[in-house]
Amino acid sequence: MGISVSVLDGASCLRVQGAGPARGEPKVPGDKSIGHRALLTAALAEGASTLRGLPLGQDVMHTRRAVERFGVPVTDAGDGRVRVEGPLRHEPDDILDHGNAGTGIRLMAGVCAGIDGLSVLTGDEFLRRRPMDRIAVPLREMGAQVWGREGGRLAPLAIRGGRLQGITHVPEQASAQVKSAVLLAGLSAQGTTTVVEARPTRRHTEELLAAFGAQVRVDGVRVSVEPGKLTGTDVVVPGDPSQAAFWAVAALLADRGEVVVENLYTGFGRSDFVGVLQRMGADADFDLATGRLSVRSSPLKAVDLSGEDVPGIVDEIPVLALAAAVAEGTTVISGAAELRAKESDRIASTARMLHAFGVPVSETPDGLVIEGGARLHPARIDSHGDHRIAMTAAVAGACAVEGTTVIDGWDSVATSYPGFAAELVRLTDAVVEPGA
Ligand code: S3P
Repeated sequence: MGISVSVLDGASCLRVQGAGPARGEPKVPGDKSIGHRALLTAALAEGASTLRGLPLGQDVMHTRRAVERFGVPVTDAGDGRVRVEGPLRHEPDDILDHGNAGTGIRLMAGVCAGIDGLSVLTGDEFLRRRPMDRIAVPLREMGAQVWGREGGRLAPLAIRGGRLQGITHVPEQASAQVKSAVLLAGLSAQGTTTVVEARPTRRHTEELLAAFGAQVRVDGVRVSVEPGKLTGTDVVVPGDPSQAAFWAVAALLADRGEVVVENLYTGFGRSDFVGVLQRMGADADFDLATGRLSVRSSPLKAVDLSGEDVPGIVDEIPVLALAAAVAEGTTVISGAAELRAKESDRIASTARMLHAFGVPVSETPDGLVIEGGARLHPARIDSHGDHRIAMTAAVAGACAVEGTTVIDGWDSVATSYPGFAAELVRLTDAVVEPGA
């Protein structure tokens, strides 16, 4: 087509003309959640660490640059490896800009709480609207001073850290970000720090802290860390299951779809979307021994998703909602109020997207009701600055919509998946070009 990947990645508007199956072996980036944490734990650790397979999206790049602001050298070591030379000992020399990354700013706040000095953290217009009181409250209870604007949407945040006390924190939301911020602060607290979760969430922080030599205990929903030093080590970042989910649904939207994704993260709480697709009748398989996901087109039926399901599919709900739109029957998603606090209000932005495609959908305070079996028609979609809405719309446009889909706010995809549009071109017959 003569259009380079970077032009498609950077386009503020994308036009996608489908429709047909997705077939092939998509390349997915390294896991974003692990990428943030690998940089932070490596920065806190004594000695050098080598990180292989870090994702190159803007979110993790912001964490990388933020780490460098503390004087920690982060260098490319060739062969896709990044070398981090900790430990991080002093306050940052400037404001830490986390861009669009909620995970980046919240986890970094936990790190800053443990540093004797002043840190100021901010992000883009979308991030500055997201709730930060959920981390400010426990970090203050541990002894950090945390300032921000009134009303819980605090960023920019100013943190003066040091001298922390271990606490037992029971977050209101099941949130891996909150758990992780508290655990990271707990490394430099006096005594044990414990988080008791409402529901178990992804365990990357626990896994990385253990890999770097911290004493971490996981007992169901109760997670504790002891104060102590970390020691540098090498980390291989596996592929991001949440990004593979787009291709899984892409394979299911049209006849003759078939995708295989290799080397995905196989640990707790990240591949539950495969189980949801199986409940919907999808021919999908995830090999926990190898991290290989394979999905073939198959007729789908509706599913009920409740609060029990949500932490394990929290990032996949927009694309699962798209699968529900073509499934037979009515899908009800409930217990998902947390989605209103994501990169966009994802209940509203998912409903608006599906509605624009002609899908009968209604919003509830904590979820969505989607009437399946719709024939999607061409639409203009606003991503609301949310990469996952943009990618869901692109998958719909390439695989399920006859005609042209126009996506505004496409550049949000660069936060997590540079090269997504090029993969769409490679794996489908869709014509994909920058729009206006
Ligand atoms: C993440 C946790 C989830 C998820 C986000 C990444 C993480 O947020 O939505 O994309 O890396 O810890 P919450 O833990 O706030 O639900």
